[in-house]
Amino acid sequence: MLASTSSRLRAGSAPLRRGLHDLVTTPSKKPIISYGPPGRSAVTGHVVTVFGCTGFLGRYLVSKLARAGTQVIVPYRDDYEMRHLKVMGDLGQVLPLEWDIRNEQQIAECLRHSDTVYNLVGREYETKNFDYASVHSTGAQRIAKVASENGVSRLIHVSHLNASSSSTSAFYRTKAEGEELVKSAFPNATIVRPAALFGYEDKLLNSIARWPIWFKLNHGRTEIRPVHVMDVAQALTNLLSIPDAPQLINLPGPSKVSYAYLLGLVASVSYNPPSKAPTLPKSVATALTRISQSVWWPTICPDEVERRYMNDVDTPGNWDAVGVEPDEIETFAIKYLRQYRSAENYVRPVVLPTSRVVEF
Ligand SMILES: NC(=O)c1ccc[n+]([C@@H]2O[C@H](COP(=O)([O-])OP(=O)(O)OC[C@H]3O[C@@H](n4cnc5c(N)ncnc54)[C@H](OP(=O)(O)O)[C@@H]3O)[C@@H](O)[C@H]2O)c1
Repeated sequence: MLASTSSRLRAGSAPLRRGLHDLVTTPSKKPIISYGPPGRSAVTGHVVTVFGCTGFLGRYLVSKLARAGTQVIVPYRDDYEMRHLKVMGDLGQVLPLEWDIRNEQQIAECLRHSDTVYNLVGREYETKNFDYASVHSTGAQRIAKVASENGVSRLIHVSHLNASSSSTSAFYRTKAEGEELVKSAFPNATIVRPAALFGYEDKLLNSIARWPIWFKLNHGRTEIRPVHVMDVAQALTNLLSIPDAPQLINLPGPSKVSYAYLLGLVASVSYNPPSKAPTLPKSVATALTRISQSVWWPTICPDEVERRYMNDVDTPGNWDAVGVEPDEIETFAIKYLRQYRSAENYVRPVVLPTSRVVEF
């Protein structure tokens, strides 16, 4: 029992006791001591860095970590993308630091004081400055190497369920390469592989509602296993207190559904008529996306067209290992799709498709 006199008694409250479980010693001999009641003012004692915190998954992870009292370093490139993160924890608990994935010194500054590092950095499309490999492979390797050199105890690297070195998609191939490079630089790294995420800012339900034509490719037959962003963020948060978690954690959603079914789900939940867009042949879709790469804003890229023809792998999920039960997409569809209803349909009841087997 590590009780100190000052922490044992507080005026007007029950005696506060500190247990041995409040003290954790990391392999680098850094003590992590949690204290305080649960809630916003609690302190878990952990200091973590979340690379990729400004993205879709990152915001929910930072929120969950900071709310539990973990000090979070949030590396950012554009300060408008990081502002909302600062208010997710108690004053001084969320610390922004500017970084560049190519700059080892900046990476070291971001993780020097952390016992755990999360790497959520990823990009659906290539840009003028960053191809897939420089983000998913060499970028991930650099973070792992600097983390290892700076005595970080834990590295949690987010990859993708379909990562494979033999994939026809460069995105999935570089994700697989990244996993290998991360493991060679940081042998104890935990690799987390989620499937396609759904949530408020997702590129799944939102894109289906806005651009159904791109989900009609392959006649909508491609099957994916969508997973709730909140479940993945909770799994990543839980990993902080599961030091003996498996080194590879697959996080697919509970059900396999086709894009044709998702198009029907979006249409029926949002009370919009099903899209009459034609089913483009793959060659035409690829050519169109190639042309669209000349504009400066992000558009669907040829590699995404390739991925629209690839079913999610059947690997079983490791949800038990992270203590989370994943949600079905139908349960939350209305929450994320109500914004696509017209004013007259806004509060009408939710109507779900009657069958998951859909053809068109
Ligand atoms: N979304 C999904 O459906 C899904 C499914 C499975 C796996 N994943 C993986 O999960 C991770 C998080 O996904 P997400 O949906 O949150 O992605 P996201 O919204 O696109 O966010 C990506 C994050 O990576 C950062 N990033 C991208 N390129 C960078 C670069 N060159 N230098 C520095 N930072 C860079 C972004 O920073 P800026 O804000 O500065 O651009 C952002 O913080 C990714 O690794 C992704 O591949 C996502």
